[in-house]
Amino acid sequence: MSRLTRSKTWSSLMEHYQDIKHVHMRDMFNRDEQRFDKYSLQLNDILFDYSKNRINDETLKLLLQLASDANLSIWIEKMFAAERINHTEYRAVLHTALRNPSHQPIMLDGVDILADIRTERGRIKQLSEDIRTRKWRGASNQAITDVVNIGIGGSYLGPLMVTEALKPYAPKDLNLHFISNIDENHINDTLEYLNAETTFFIISSKTFTTQETLVNAETALQWHVNELGGKEYVDRHFCAVTSNVKLAREFGIEEARIFKIWDWVGGRYSLWSSIALPIIIAIGSEQFDEFLAGAYEVDQHFRHTSFDRNIPVLMALLGIWYNNFFETQSMVVLPYDQHLHRFPAYLQQLDMESNGKCVDRQGCQVDYTTGPIVFGEVCVEAQHSFFQFLHQGTKLVPADILAPIYDFNSIEKHHRVLISNVFAQAEALMRGKTYTEVYEDLKSEGLDENQIKQLAPYLVFPGNRPTNTLLFNTLDAKTLGAIIALYEHKIFVQGAILNVNSFDQWGVELGKNLAKNISHELNNVKRVKSHDSSTNGLINHYKCQYLREKLKNG
Ligand code: F6P
Repeated sequence: MSRLTRSKTWSSLMEHYQDIKHVHMRDMFNRDEQRFDKYSLQLNDILFDYSKNRINDETLKLLLQLASDANLSIWIEKMFAAERINHTEYRAVLHTALRNPSHQPIMLDGVDILADIRTERGRIKQLSEDIRTRKWRGASNQAITDVVNIGIGGSYLGPLMVTEALKPYAPKDLNLHFISNIDENHINDTLEYLNAETTFFIISSKTFTTQETLVNAETALQWHVNELGGKEYVDRHFCAVTSNVKLAREFGIEEARIFKIWDWVGGRYSLWSSIALPIIIAIGSEQFDEFLAGAYEVDQHFRHTSFDRNIPVLMALLGIWYNNFFETQSMVVLPYDQHLHRFPAYLQQLDMESNGKCVDRQGCQVDYTTGPIVFGEVCVEAQHSFFQFLHQGTKLVPADILAPIYDFNSIEKHHRVLISNVFAQAEALMRGKTYTEVYEDLKSEGLDENQIKQLAPYLVFPGNRPTNTLLFNTLDAKTLGAIIALYEHKIFVQGAILNVNSFDQWGVELGKNLAKNISHELNNVKRVKSHDSSTNGLINHYKCQYLREKLKNG
């Protein structure tokens, strides 16, 4: 047994779970009129309501004990103090430094990283402003109308999510495009309508070794050279964001157009770094500073607030409670804001790549559940697809609901309907509907006893399904920065308590390496025998059919 599952606190939580698992939240609310006041917190513009959870004071006491058993305060300070807590890669974890406005140095290996950050930030802001103000000129002295970010994972999902979320702040005459997929349809469909003379490419790759990004970058470069008849304009139309300056230069990008990131920022935590170039081009420097400020306020809250009032800590503890004791295995994120439509995808990488681990910090297999399966969809869209499952399915899925109180673009009628759904769904998930309530409803609709008996079982909602609601004033840059930082810290806390390294991602390596070998095998007509029979069979079938199709189509 691991130290965690052997612990007294873990056993007490197990016992407590037996007591609470049959208690219905409806009864908890009926018994305590102050439940919302007790279990909700406000941080600046964000209200965090966690009262619709299957918890009481005893649950929280035990969960908070879990945090203290894990020396969470020490882990938090280790992260902020630049200790190499990403031990498998021997790296510090300093995305928080990227939003730290102070001039108090943060030293790593004798270098003040804040000074480095300021230099690179100045450079990306300059380029962004030059593009935004039409000062930056491409071939034939034309201004840039389209910016294409080529990158994948953290070099794509964060910038895409943020630029979509803050669309109202972006100029209408500057178009952003993102190419991530190696499937050539992605790049072909994007380039088809672009004019090479007015298009600017950002090759975004922390390592500059990611195959998908490099192949896409080469195709983009070739397209550009073909369209403009030579390489002389590359410098005006391509830049790179990377920690691997050497490889970016070898690719053909001038050092002056290479923006640095550092090994102490993980890909999925990198949207605060130069990886934010498309974000700053979209929303401008001032709004970007607001974005950083929102995250910094959460950093301060996380670092200095007692755990019982600390939003990311409570979010993390609730996640552990459900995943390990209720065995929920998953969580769903439900943004009631169209502009947050890429938030679930972004959160999937952030959470699942961070805590999707089965080996602890000591290299031993864990005997508990680590990160959850994260899924989600913008609402109300999701209400009409998988909410049936959430309400009446056999799995318990804890939900996070995110919603803006006010949207400065909104038509009042639309927004009222949208927000009424937020409250209604959270209430329905919590309360459910009993047989008696269903019976009374059907009776008042005039159904006879027989009809009621037949229909009623289908209309019963078990309820007791937990939700957190994050209600914020409006989706502006500062609030978005804060929301992202809340989730980053939630994931950090879970990693600390569950004793996994949230900052490496070895699990993506095996598939990548195998793909490289298979890619060579696909390059000739020989039958493949080197794999298991299924993989050999699939590869050989592919080769045979591919060749046939090719011959057929000339
Ligand atoms: O999918 C694995 C991963 O390493 C992610 O962690 C990262 O965000 C993504 O690939 C892209 O990596 P890079 O920015 O180095 O191209």
